[in-house]
Amino acid sequence: MMASGTPILPPDTAREVIDPHSYAEWGSLLDTFDRLRAESPVAKIVPDEEGLFEPFWLVTRYEDVMRMSKDNRTFLNNPRPVVFSLNSAIEFSRAATGSDMLVDSLVVFDAPVHPKYRRLTQDWFMPRNLAKIEGEIRIIANRVVDKLLEAGPELDFCKLVSAPYPLHVVMQILGVPEEDEPRMLMLTQQMFGGQDADLSGTGMENMTPEQVLQLVSGAVKSFEDYFAEIANQRRENPTDDVASVIANATVDGEPLPDRDMAGYYIIVATAGHDTTSASTAGAMQALAQDPEQWAKVKADRSLLPGIVEEAIRWTTPVQHFMRTAAEDTELGNQAIKKGDWLMMSYVAANHDPAQFENPRKFDAARSPNRHLAFGAGAHQCLGLHLARLEMRILFEALLDRVETVELAGEPKRSTSTFVGGLKTLPLRITPA
Ligand code: HEM
Repeated sequence: MMASGTPILPPDTAREVIDPHSYAEWGSLLDTFDRLRAESPVAKIVPDEEGLFEPFWLVTRYEDVMRMSKDNRTFLNNPRPVVFSLNSAIEFSRAATGSDMLVDSLVVFDAPVHPKYRRLTQDWFMPRNLAKIEGEIRIIANRVVDKLLEAGPELDFCKLVSAPYPLHVVMQILGVPEEDEPRMLMLTQQMFGGQDADLSGTGMENMTPEQVLQLVSGAVKSFEDYFAEIANQRRENPTDDVASVIANATVDGEPLPDRDMAGYYIIVATAGHDTTSASTAGAMQALAQDPEQWAKVKADRSLLPGIVEEAIRWTTPVQHFMRTAAEDTELGNQAIKKGDWLMMSYVAANHDPAQFENPRKFDAARSPNRHLAFGAGAHQCLGLHLARLEMRILFEALLDRVETVELAGEPKRSTSTFVGGLKTLPLRITPA
């Protein structure tokens, strides 16, 4: 690292930050973030000669990520992709859609458009409305716990519980019938899961970049067609699900254009499951590693919200988002130029010892726990109350119906720079 001027990360550190495989090696990645946060909290990553991506700033301190998240005038989601992308993906998207992103949605919009779209479903996602679907979520939770108990005593929690459960919930609120869920899962994995060969199941690892992009844009088109049909049904027969709210929404007095409507369905469909799967698996891992904690919360359910919140921080399923500077500014003593691209590492921010004492420890009693796993500011996760509710209901069912739980093998993480977490969690359980 340079002593003065712009700190530019050495190529091996830069590679570690952008390589999906590093995110499967969690401990050493956290070591790297600790070092960077201490030595060079706002540092530049520049591509090698191949020029695969645009240079960007890596931001690792809690304080700086918080400031960026809340200052939505200076740090924009548009026009650069909100998620770290290779130049080839951006060019492909521009050719296919005229935009840097294949899908237009809340995460791509800035003010003044963003608040208009966000307002459409904001109330639906508030606790008062979600209370109405608690019963439906409990049925889904108990169904996956049935599967877990049938499979026991040894099983993979990810496969049986944490992967399918949030998917069922999101599909229910979007009005997707159960028989179509495998198709939706496949499309999501084609859009986002391509970085992990085990999870994608699409054979993407053997494809050329052009073939991958073809597959991804095909998945987007299939999503659009599928949800256009659901929207038609919900216009004719509105129900109280979020699909009906989107189908019947207007912005500036006009119904949503088809592309924006599809984008809305897609962001809810995709943002809501791998994320909650990861935090759910993480919560179970923490409890399985600590039988005393499991016994304690079994006896005293008031401990559950603290466990849920800490699991969300401890896992940080959304590992980063990107922003673009709208004007020249300063961050962590570095001069940021208008147009510069920045990565907010939520993983690094949520392990900042200046904010969290002993950050790698799972501490269910952590208070306050003002983590950044849901982001902050105008784009703060729309589904955060739903995510917490889903986790609480599932763990209530598990605590009622499972007596003991312990690890039965080594948990494995997925290889992904964006949304990541456990992909296998071998457990040994005894029923209650
Ligand atoms: C946005 C995390 C669950 C829907 C986000 C953001 C993060 C995040 C970090 C971006 C925040 C920012 O830019 O400041 C998570 C985590 C979850 C989770 C960790 C689970 C533990 C959900 C669920 C849904 C959802 C269950 C809905 C079903 C959304 C939407 C946005 C979003 C629509 C875009 C909001 C906007 O740009 O205005 N989420 N999320 N998320 N999330 Fe979540």
